[in-house]
Amino acid sequence: MDVIITDESSIGDLVADDIAALLQQKPHAVLGLATGSSPLRIYDSVATRVARGELSLAQARGFTLDEYVGLPDGHPSQYRTVIDNDFVSRVDFAPGAVRAPRGNAADLGQACHDYEAAIRAAGGIDLQILGIGTDGHIAFNEPGSSLASRTRVKTLAEQTRRDNARFFDGDVAAVPIHCLTQGLGTIMEARHIVLVGTGLGKAEAIHQLVEGPVSALWPATVLQHHPHVTVLVDDAAASRLQLADYFRYTYAHRYLVQ
Ligand code: GLP
Repeated sequence: MDVIITDESSIGDLVADDIAALLQQKPHAVLGLATGSSPLRIYDSVATRVARGELSLAQARGFTLDEYVGLPDGHPSQYRTVIDNDFVSRVDFAPGAVRAPRGNAADLGQACHDYEAAIRAAGGIDLQILGIGTDGHIAFNEPGSSLASRTRVKTLAEQTRRDNARFFDGDVAAVPIHCLTQGLGTIMEARHIVLVGTGLGKAEAIHQLVEGPVSALWPATVLQHHPHVTVLVDDAAASRLQLADYFRYTYAHRYLVQ
């Protein structure tokens, strides 16, 4: 696991560099797209490069991580709408190239099965962008999730509904109780995972993710078993890391391929 402690404003460009390198080598790469505030600077940086003609996603495809159950299409807080507004509409993906779990399908079990099949048919995810919840969830895999879980229906923790109420005009009651989410086992199949966490509220979750025992109590800790994870955090989110000095040292002395 590479841990990069840097200022929040650099994170977007660093991850966009990784995405650009991937697309140069593999124009039809598959990106895993997270919603939430953490990836916004990444999307800004990628959109700027596309607008300048430096980068194209015309052959790329994308899969989002999760979706609320029951929100109608076009609802401003539906993750499908959010990713369209925050990213897809600002770059040059081909129509239909970005998929999301169908949280308003009549048969949710089938929708989960179809989503797993679509990711497999696309050849798997090359680069997965992740945020992290204050309780250590990734996507919507709440504490207690099986570390081998697949895409399925989950019940949101009350903490997560409180955290996400800001996207529902502050009304916790308006946040759906159920969601569809890629499982931890699904996420672990991505070839490269890039997790972004900023702010003091994420400090404990980042400490557990990087340094805690692997446990369903902190679902993000499963990433310790993944061979290629990059964690990007600001000073506040890094403030509980026991190895912070070591991570700063390793990044300052990173080996650059000539
Ligand atoms: C939600 C999403 C997660 C996201 C998390 C953190 O619960 N399902 O995918 O990582 O929120 O969001 P933020 O980046 O806004 O802090």
